[in-house]
Amino acid sequence: MIRHLGVSNATADQVAEARSIAPIVCVQNMYNLAYRHDDPMIDELAEAGIAYVPFFPLGGFTPLQSDALSAVATRLAATPMSVALAWLLHRSANILLIPGTASSAHLRENAAGAGITLTEDDLAALDKIGR
Ligand SMILES: NC(=O)c1ccc[n+]([C@@H]2O[C@H](COP(=O)([O-])OP(=O)(O)OC[C@H]3O[C@@H](n4cnc5c(N)ncnc54)[C@H](OP(=O)(O)O)[C@@H]3O)[C@@H](O)[C@H]2O)c1
Repeated sequence: MIRHLGVSNATADQVAEARSIAPIVCVQNMYNLAYRHDDPMIDELAEAGIAYVPFFPLGGFTPLQSDALSAVATRLAATPMSVALAWLLHRSANILLIPGTASSAHLRENAAGAGITLTEDDLAALDKIGR
């Protein structure tokens, strides 16, 4: 009856336990430019061909704010939120995005993030935010 299984709010040990029981196609945990607890897990899941869906990709209840993020956004003539989403898409090929919004203007802005190409310098500057 169930075609694909995903887990959420799961530690690396819990993901390993779940994978020992049944194939897992997706993990959904909190992750964004400033909150990078799952960095190692994302790389392991990418190796295994498992999707990672960051919740609170824009910071959730406390939207991301950073001078470094704003500086990159200004350089690219983009908005900070679209750059934050672009960074996630550059972070790993197994990342799928679900930014939430009740605003059509924000929806357009967020969708534009998929079209932003970040340079090595941009990535280096953004990488420092959560490290
Ligand atoms: N598995 C779990 O435990 C779990 C936990 C939390 C969330 N989730 C899921 O994860 C997804 C994302 O979570 P989320 O929506 O709470 O967090 P989010 O995407 O990080 O942030 C959403 C917040 O950012 C604002 N926002 C969105 N786009 C913006 C923009 N371009 N500029 C400025 N502000 C912007 C939204 O306000 P506006 O409406 O004003 O745009 C909203 O307050 C949702 O599908 C949610 O259901 C799952």
